[in-house]
Amino acid sequence: MSDYQVVNFEHEKAFLVGADVRSSRPLLKLEDSLRELALLADTAGMEVVGQASQHLQRIDPNTFIGPGKVEEIHEAVEATGAQVVIFDDELSPRHLRELEKTFGDEVRVLDRSALILDIFAQHAHTREGALQVELAQYEYRLPRLTRQWTHLARQAGGGAARGGTGGVGLRGPGETQLEVDRRDIRRRIAKLKEELERVRQHRSQYRQQRSRAGVPVVSLVGYTNAGKSTLLKALTNSDVYIADQLFATLDPLSRRVDLPSGRNVVVTDTVGFIQKLPTTLIAAFRATLEEVAESDMLLHVVDTSHPNVIQQIETVEDTLAEIEVPPVPRILVWNKLDRWGNQPLPQLPDPQGYAAAVVVSAQTGEGIPDLLRAMEHILASYEKRVRLLLPYQRGDLVSLLYEAATVESQEHVEAGVMLTVKLPPSLLERFKAYRVL
Ligand code: GTP
Repeated sequence: MSDYQVVNFEHEKAFLVGADVRSSRPLLKLEDSLRELALLADTAGMEVVGQASQHLQRIDPNTFIGPGKVEEIHEAVEATGAQVVIFDDELSPRHLRELEKTFGDEVRVLDRSALILDIFAQHAHTREGALQVELAQYEYRLPRLTRQWTHLARQAGGGAARGGTGGVGLRGPGETQLEVDRRDIRRRIAKLKEELERVRQHRSQYRQQRSRAGVPVVSLVGYTNAGKSTLLKALTNSDVYIADQLFATLDPLSRRVDLPSGRNVVVTDTVGFIQKLPTTLIAAFRATLEEVAESDMLLHVVDTSHPNVIQQIETVEDTLAEIEVPPVPRILVWNKLDRWGNQPLPQLPDPQGYAAAVVVSAQTGEGIPDLLRAMEHILASYEKRVRLLLPYQRGDLVSLLYEAATVESQEHVEAGVMLTVKLPPSLLERFKAYRVL
């Protein structure tokens, strides 16, 4: 980790700020979104000492909320001794600069994205996860670099160069300290990207080996804290890290699961989603999201007992659409049945989007056999027998079929290789153009 990440918010007192902007249509009500922000702050190890909110006609170009409200919050911050002010919405570099000026050197201003990045940094355990978070943090911070922040980073012991990957942060002719810092960070970003690429190539080789074995991949997706890791544990009886925390799982974790017929699948746990997660941040988690994009089936795990469960489902669906997950079958898993009891299930906005819905308690194990049966049934029903004609120059695709599908017959004809194969859902779209039947 580099020196730019030394800022640690653990045990700091935090003051939260939310706003309702008239023109926007937020998914969660202001108070629910602030409650979630408080949970995030708590997960980062902070103590929430107060909060304020404002209904806005429009976002103030300088301070996001109105200047009068900023003053009011400033007083409250002084009265409560808060060291950090956290905005629930993304702040522009200009907002951040202006707010930092108002609150002064002793108080740090953050937004939801920076807070989530901080939690991610605490929870990244693999090399790839740590590299991804570091890269996302630099990319987030580069346009937001302020003198105050630079000063703090320097106090902590040198510039980004100390990581050993950049040059020494010496000033060139006519360069300000801020420019030197920006240059150092750009260099560090380039290094991190190279390093990540190397780690990813290694992982993709591993994935190819797995698909060669023809084992379908099932990904667990869901809102943060829905119970994905607990479900993985229930499906495998394995030891999976579980915490009543947001974003406890950052790195993809895969386990083999036996279906009732004896057939195997690989189930992968992924990073949880949350509302107001910026796309740039989502993009940073390609490692887990690549697993999702290449799965044969998704299990969308939801916390049935959460008062905002429908909004959480919508957030996850929107995020999946944003990362362009192919149309593979999805099972909706209504989790935490033990907390929900016999009440009727909440109404889904788009029930057609799911091949099946199963009610379970990952904690007590109730409903897990039903889920396993549904997984088996749906996987089988979505595999499709097709005939494909591949031109001779696409030997790469023929190899892929042998690795990831069941090839039943192959013959050479004038136009290319004719194959009869059973294709898993994840490959149907890819081979659409070559289908002759
Ligand atoms: P992220 O890592 O944030 O994405 O969370 P996750 O979806 O992996 O959730 P996790 O499995 O860590 O569970 C979150 C919390 O919910 C933990 O405290 C679990 O013990 C609890 N939990 C999970 N499943 C159930 C369930 O069926 N019933 C009850 N009562 N609690 C559950």
